[in-house]
Amino acid sequence: MGFSGSPLKENTVPQTVNAIVALTKNAPATVEKIVIPDPGPGEVVVDVLTCGVCQTDQHFQQGEVGDNFPYLLGHEATARVSEIGEGVTNMSVGDKVILNWRAVCGECRACRKGQLQYCFDTHNASQRMTLEDGTELEAALGIGAFAEKTLVAAGQCTVVDDVDEASNAAVGLLGCGVMVSIGAAMNTGEVKRGESVAVIGVGGVGTAAVAGAKLAGATKIIAVDLDPGSWRPPADSAPPTPSTPGRQTRSKASAS
Ligand SMILES: NC(=O)c1ccc[n+]([C@@H]2O[C@H](COP(=O)([O-])OP(=O)(O)OC[C@H]3O[C@@H](n4cnc5c(N)ncnc54)[C@H](O)[C@@H]3O)[C@@H](O)[C@H]2O)c1
Ligand SMILES: [Zn+2]
Ligand SMILES: [Zn+2]
Repeated sequence: MGFSGSPLKENTVPQTVNAIVALTKNAPATVEKIVIPDPGPGEVVVDVLTCGVCQTDQHFQQGEVGDNFPYLLGHEATARVSEIGEGVTNMSVGDKVILNWRAVCGECRACRKGQLQYCFDTHNASQRMTLEDGTELEAALGIGAFAEKTLVAAGQCTVVDDVDEASNAAVGLLGCGVMVSIGAAMNTGEVKRGESVAVIGVGGVGTAAVAGAKLAGATKIIAVDLDPGSWRPPADSAPPTPSTPGRQTRSKASAS
């Protein structure tokens, strides 16, 4: 993906905003002031509108993803573009966007074949956001959207200007949970028409995997979860059927 052109905003100063940060392993996440640099070439600063809570954020906070604390949490967001760096031509200030983890290069063999999910050269913003004392933050999944503003690579933004304000939070889920689980069902699991599928764990990700299996044409989809409250069936779905009476696990079979 090429970037060319002139800076669209000049003489700006780094901004300080509130954000939720995991400072050290297992410490409760806290609200901190963070510094957002001006966007460099190919980067944008966005005002975060909504950000979902994905369990991966807890994995970051518990040190299960890495040990690069402090982590700026949040990665399932809808946002509005507030500043764009040099050469960014695929969006304008004011556009509403969904954030995705990594920008694809658009040029490698996988990208040229249309298999963007296998891009060999994905990237995030080059600059780092920091705490006020200058400590560099590791943005969760290269996004860090539990913040009033965040800095991302332009290619991490997908413009969705036709989304009404009431749908911002739901649409933001496309940036992680829905993308992952539709991909799990259709690309990784290669679910085919007429197949039976079991989804273990139907929170955010699993619920969308059920939808992905249905989209792929599965005829029987069994949702399994330890928590009976997790499954919220769509309005057109048959009532759940407990499969193991007397045990905590509950399953639901639905025909598409
Ligand atoms: N690989 C990726 O790209 C990717 C992306 C997003 C999330 N994730 C991961 O997917 C997982 C789920 O994330 P989420 O946001 O949907 O979490 P969630 O908390 O919304 O849902 C998890 C569900 O699993 C159930 N569960 C837990 N243990 C179970 C068990 N032994 N048997 C059956 N059900 C069980 C819980 O009751 C809960 O309903 C997390 O580990 C998260 O980090 C991976
Ligand atoms: Zn996630
Ligand atoms: Zn590529």
